[in-house]
Amino acid sequence: MCGIIGYTGRKNALPRLIEGLKALEYRGYDSAGVAFVHKNGIKAVKSKGRIALLEEKLKGEQESFCAIGHTRWATHGEPSDVNSHPHGTDSVYIVHNGIIENYAVIKEFLTEKGYSFESETDTETAAKLIDWFYSKEKSPISAIRKALEMISGSYAIGAVFEGYPDKIYAFRKDSPLLAAPSEDGGFITSDISAILRHTREFIRLEEGEIAVLSPDSIEILSTDNTPIERDFETVSWDIEAAEKGGYDHFMLKEIFEQPDAVKKTLSPRVTDGLPTLDITKLAGRCVGELGAIHIVACGTAYHAGLIGQYAIEKLARIPVKVELASEFRYKNPILRKNDLVIIISQSGETADSLAALRLAKERGVRTLAVVNVAGSTIAQEADSVLLTWAGPEIAVASTKAFSVQIALLYLFAIRLALDSDTISEEEARQYCTELTTDVPAAISKALDLTDLCSSTAQKYKDNSSIFFIGRGASSALAHEAALKMKEISYIHCEAYAAGELKHGTISLITDGTPVFAFLTNRSTADKMISNIREVKTRGARVMLFCREGMPIPDGIADDIIPIPSLSQLFMPMSEIIAAQLVAYYMSCHLGCDVDKPRNLAKSVTVE
Ligand code: F6R
Repeated sequence: MCGIIGYTGRKNALPRLIEGLKALEYRGYDSAGVAFVHKNGIKAVKSKGRIALLEEKLKGEQESFCAIGHTRWATHGEPSDVNSHPHGTDSVYIVHNGIIENYAVIKEFLTEKGYSFESETDTETAAKLIDWFYSKEKSPISAIRKALEMISGSYAIGAVFEGYPDKIYAFRKDSPLLAAPSEDGGFITSDISAILRHTREFIRLEEGEIAVLSPDSIEILSTDNTPIERDFETVSWDIEAAEKGGYDHFMLKEIFEQPDAVKKTLSPRVTDGLPTLDITKLAGRCVGELGAIHIVACGTAYHAGLIGQYAIEKLARIPVKVELASEFRYKNPILRKNDLVIIISQSGETADSLAALRLAKERGVRTLAVVNVAGSTIAQEADSVLLTWAGPEIAVASTKAFSVQIALLYLFAIRLALDSDTISEEEARQYCTELTTDVPAAISKALDLTDLCSSTAQKYKDNSSIFFIGRGASSALAHEAALKMKEISYIHCEAYAAGELKHGTISLITDGTPVFAFLTNRSTADKMISNIREVKTRGARVMLFCREGMPIPDGIADDIIPIPSLSQLFMPMSEIIAAQLVAYYMSCHLGCDVDKPRNLAKSVTVE
């Protein structure tokens, strides 16, 4: 959600910013802008739309050696040139990720001082507040500190000040911001992938700190403005991981990375055929003392939680509640001291999930984060962390993160079950073998369905609405399949537990209504077939995601995608691949922007 980059150094900043903004575009792509220091002061150039338009506008601009840039996902005010960042005055410009919650109060305060506002953004109020204090204090640091005393909300901010032409100031609260040295200057960024061509080392700014970047140094000031020493962290993956590598889209590349991502996430955690996860460490108490488990997440991560719930309840017989983070926070959830709250998040920065984590901690409940981005806020704040090692996920539609999340939840469930004596060691070994060898193999096999998924998508692409139905874990999976289809192809989809259709929604099934049905569960196959017949007799056009080898009665399916077989527990891991591929090709055939669907952004850092 929004991206920040800044550079001060010995080379022209503008090409570096454009390159970085392009890498950040997946985080927000409503509009973009830069503010750069030039011989007469600071100049801002902004543009609604994609970075390419901004790049066009910047053609012919003189060189600048210090600049900040931003790609926006609109919260306050529609996407437009004027609402784009940077915002500021002749004296100061800022770029901002997050939300200034009390912007109305600040606006009133500044209006009384004679300020006027041209945009509808909260960010402009923060910029002008800093400007007000800068006019009084004459020092960027004092101006920032004074302004922060008045600001409430979340922010990662980069600022440049007239009078300090080679300096960038950076500070944050509840939204990530990094400062990084390179051979020819210093960078700030909200996401390391934006500057990987220049450096692999960075410092993660802490709340309350201000980083002051000059071409040759990065100074970190603590809350009382004393300089502090901080160690650099090094990025563990390389630039190729954040590039398309010959695929047409990041989404397709990430779909194809799943067999490896699952292996990487699981293999180091299995020794002698058993999960090495230490439940007592992760949950803060032994399994016998563990109360309920609450899985809290948003979007795709929430769907992973639903599948985790099936696995944990089936294997370990421990009650699991799965909650949407945005609801959990405000419902005064019943949390008991022996419970465990598991937060699942790819980015580790999702504002709703972070708020849920903080609420659980306030209530004294143990928290465990399942997170893909090491060092993210959720990873740092949770009592314990299980990292998914999927590598960077760039496409807005989450694919490989989902697979590694459920893979890790399976492993967690197996360990819980073993420790609870609800499965034997032999059963645990069997599950582990299947999870670490058969599952990645089945995912690879499912990837061979590419052509079939593409032609199937072609057949259904002109429909305005599609139903997804399944039973058991496949009903949870139907929700994820529908989400994938909706977000990138803009086709309206409904996901239902197959047995629930007849309780109302079947009234929407008429001649030709597409129904995508998951027929993969042997134990409920008869019931599922009856549900498919119910829609078929009402005219539905049925596309079956069907377990390979499963007998299919005549006349129930118009199209079939065979899903590589696994034991029932793990079937979602191969089902999801076909569902992702169909959604991907649907989006391609419809000419949609697969990696950057409208209105969405990667990493949702506002509530
Ligand atoms: C959908 C998608 C979103 C995210 C959700 C949570 O494809 O990516 O639904 O899953 O915004 O994000 P994280 O996992 O970063 O907390």
